[in-house]
Order: sequence, then structure tokens, then C-alpha cells
Amino acid sequence: MLDQIARTGREFDSALASASSAKEVDDLRVRYFGRKAGLIPALFARLKEVPKEQKKAAGDALNKLRDRLEEALRQKTERVAGEEATRKEARETLDVTLPGRKPRLGHLHPVTIVRQQMEDIFREMSYSIDPGPEVETDWYNFEALNFTPDHPARDTQDTFFVDVDQLLLRTHTSNAQIRSMERWKPPVKVFSAGRVYRRDEITMRKSPMFHQAEGFLVDKGIHIGHLRATLEHFIKRVFGEGLQMRMRPSYFPFTEPSAEVDMSCVFCKGAGCGTCSQTGWMEILGCGMIHPQVLRNVGIDPDEWSGFAFGLGLDRVAMIKFDIPNIRTLFENDLRVLQQF
Ligand code: PHE
Repeated sequence: MLDQIARTGREFDSALASASSAKEVDDLRVRYFGRKAGLIPALFARLKEVPKEQKKAAGDALNKLRDRLEEALRQKTERVAGEEATRKEARETLDVTLPGRKPRLGHLHPVTIVRQQMEDIFREMSYSIDPGPEVETDWYNFEALNFTPDHPARDTQDTFFVDVDQLLLRTHTSNAQIRSMERWKPPVKVFSAGRVYRRDEITMRKSPMFHQAEGFLVDKGIHIGHLRATLEHFIKRVFGEGLQMRMRPSYFPFTEPSAEVDMSCVFCKGAGCGTCSQTGWMEILGCGMIHPQVLRNVGIDPDEWSGFAFGLGLDRVAMIKFDIPNIRTLFENDLRVLQQF
């Protein structure tokens, strides 16, 4: 019995020495003092089997072992708790030398960048900024702009109709001309940019939803020279110095005369390259002098007032400026792309 008491003591000592966490120390306490299967209570239970003449010695040894083990566990528990507190403190201490965490900033979409830049340019020329509605009536999108109900030019702007009240999704931002001229008496200068919709297939250059910008001005004595000067200034500000601009006759129901505007290819500066099909020119916008009938439609006397208007695709400008070959890139919302702007 004495042997076994001594052995239990030695085993305990080495187990305690290798215990390093509060949990391990606690497990030891259970193993040695647990009420059900603890080794020390088990030894006490076996005292009654010990022959009478050895009982006192064994009892004394066992009492001593119990006291020693209890004290050892108490001390170890204290030490381990102290160590853990120190470790925790070290973990939680603020390290002021660590680099800070940067807030993640959002990015402007390339079309937004282009739109805001254009709005700034026209705001500087004291134009009002008015985006106009995307859901429109036939009157504002077509009829008031001189597209009579069976006008063939309606076919060039294949329209999405909304099932309610004969509404449609505007096919161009030219609706802004009518809305603004109705609202404000001339002189008016408005720049209007936003989404437009046409029933087109999705291709490299076309999408059923895209963005246009429209600018127009009505005042006394406005002629095509004002239009040309405005566009030259605009192109220079958006694409930089040194580009030529040319006007080609064209047709829109709401302008007369009408023109298509080209600028020298921004990639080859007019020398001819793959992007401009070796022509040296890029088509950039449509424009013209506001048709007298359009002015009459909004109650403006064309004998007293005249104006010009122009419209262009924002997506195309963003694609040219940022060298994006496929329009779909603009609408896929791929963060790897958007984060580059
Ligand atoms: N609305 C025309 C289009 O979508 C562009 C345009 C605007 C032309 C203003 C002339 C004047 O093609």
C-alpha cells in the first residue's frame, strides 16, 4: 500500500509538470480527486483492506499525499491562470505600428465619368442640366419631334412599348427638347443625359439599353455657326486638342438642316487605322437646326426664335476614351473592370 501511495505521488508529479493549460490542470484534478473515479478517494477506500498494524502508517502517508497534491494543484492553477492572462493581454494590446485598414472606396462607372464631364462642360456654358423621363409618351418621343404617326424614321428607332396608357421607353434623349421648351420660355439652353432603349440585338456595339446625351439651345439669331462652334469646343474638351471636325448632311425629322458630325480618329489622329476602317474619321454625333415645326409644336414662334440641337451616344464616347472594344463590358458590372476607373 505504501508503495502504491508513493507511485501515485510520482505519477502525479510528472503529469502535473507537463500540464500547461487550465483545462489540463482541471483534468488532472478530476483524475485524482473526482468523486466517482478519483485515484485518491479510491486509495482511501482501499485503507480498510490494509492489515491493522500497517493502517496508521498508510493512513498518514495517504493524508500527506492528499494534502500535497491539493496544494500542488492549487498553485499550478494559479500559475496557469496568470500565464493565460498575460498571453491574452499581449494579444489584445494595441499595436500602434500596424498599418491602418484602408476603407474600400467605390469607383465611378466609365459612363458616369463621361456624363459628369460633359455636364460640367455645358454647365460652364450656363446650360441647365435636366435628364428628362425614361418612360415617355408618343408625343414627347416622336410626334412633337415631327415624327408623324406613319413617319418612316420611326422604324429606325425600334421601340419598346409599355403596356400602360400607351407609354413607351424613350428611344433617344430628344424628348428632353420638347419637355424643356414646354417648361421654359426661350432663351433656353439645356443639356440632358440618360438612358435610352431600342429593340436591338446585343452586339459588340449595340445594346437594347444605352446612354445618350442631348444639348440644345433656343435664342434669337441662332445659326449653324453657333452649333459648329459649340461642338468644336465640346469635342476639344472631351477628347483633347488637335482633332479635326467635319459635318456631313444627314436627316432627322426634328432638325433642318441636319448633319452627322465626324471627328478625326483619336487612335491614329486621322492617318487611318483599323479602328476607323482606314478612313481617319469617327462618327460621333447627330445634330441640326431645330425644325420650325418642332418650335411651333411647343408654342415658340420660329420667325422670332431659332435653335440648334445635337445628340450623341455616351457609351460610344466612353468606349473611345477608355479604349473599350465591346459595349457589353460597360453593362456586365465586372468589378475587375470597374475598379480600373
Ligand atoms: N436623337 C437623334 C438620335 O438618336 C440624335 C440627334 C439629336 C440628332 C439632336 C439631331 C439633334 O439619333
